[in-house]
Amino acid sequence: MKVSIPAANWKANLTFDQAVNWIKYIENDVTRVILDYQEYINIIAAVPYVYIKPLKDLAKRTKIYAQNVSHVLKGAYTGEVTISMLKSINCDGVILGHSERRNIFNETDDLINKKVLICQDYDMPFILCVGENLEQRQKGLAFEVIKKQLDNALKGFSKFELMILAYEPVWAIGTGVPMEINDIKEAANFILQYLKQNYKEVPVLYGGSVEENTAYFATFDTGLSGVLVGSKSLDPVEFERIITLTFSGVNNIQFDIEHFANG
Ligand code: PGA
Repeated sequence: MKVSIPAANWKANLTFDQAVNWIKYIENDVTRVILDYQEYINIIAAVPYVYIKPLKDLAKRTKIYAQNVSHVLKGAYTGEVTISMLKSINCDGVILGHSERRNIFNETDDLINKKVLICQDYDMPFILCVGENLEQRQKGLAFEVIKKQLDNALKGFSKFELMILAYEPVWAIGTGVPMEINDIKEAANFILQYLKQNYKEVPVLYGGSVEENTAYFATFDTGLSGVLVGSKSLDPVEFERIITLTFSGVNNIQFDIEHFANG
């Protein structure tokens, strides 16, 4: 059995009550297969900063991640949330370099590299996101962009045990249309080879409009370890199915309706 990683990225969604219900559901009400194979299922929920501490107190099975962390360590930076703050509430990890941070909040490769090195210094696990936009894909530059984002983010980095990589083609995020499975396979192949040859093998996830089908087919026999899920992660029942299908895909298990029976 291989460890599968279904990761939820709530972004700026859910009220506190909804967040608590989500965690309670995933902690207590999931199907038999998830309970039976929990050591092979690494559930991650990347939640708004203000929910991390209260959700950590409820979560046993689920790892609670932040969606970002500041590039500064402390001081007069109004509104910033630092790595020491996250450490002090036992946050399990952070997402770095999400395309929404890059594109809406102008995060550069240099800034993301700073955050990667901060995570290295503070032993904070992270999911690093990379991925090309539509124009870059159409010009045939997708793999060049991925390489550059990886190389820039990983300058001076060596603690690969902290890292998960998420490949998220920007043009597939939030559109409801995931990348074609054959294209996911091709990209997965490239990324896994590139990591192996130049860095270390780390778990790689696919993200971008992931729903149940994509969770299964993107991980079935592709070498990918899981999925990073935005909008379809907000409903815990839907996410539960994605958890099961990711586990099945990663372990090349033929889909079995039994897996959906309550345990
Ligand atoms: P989406 O978001 O599943 O809503 O496309 C994925 C992400 O941005 O991580």
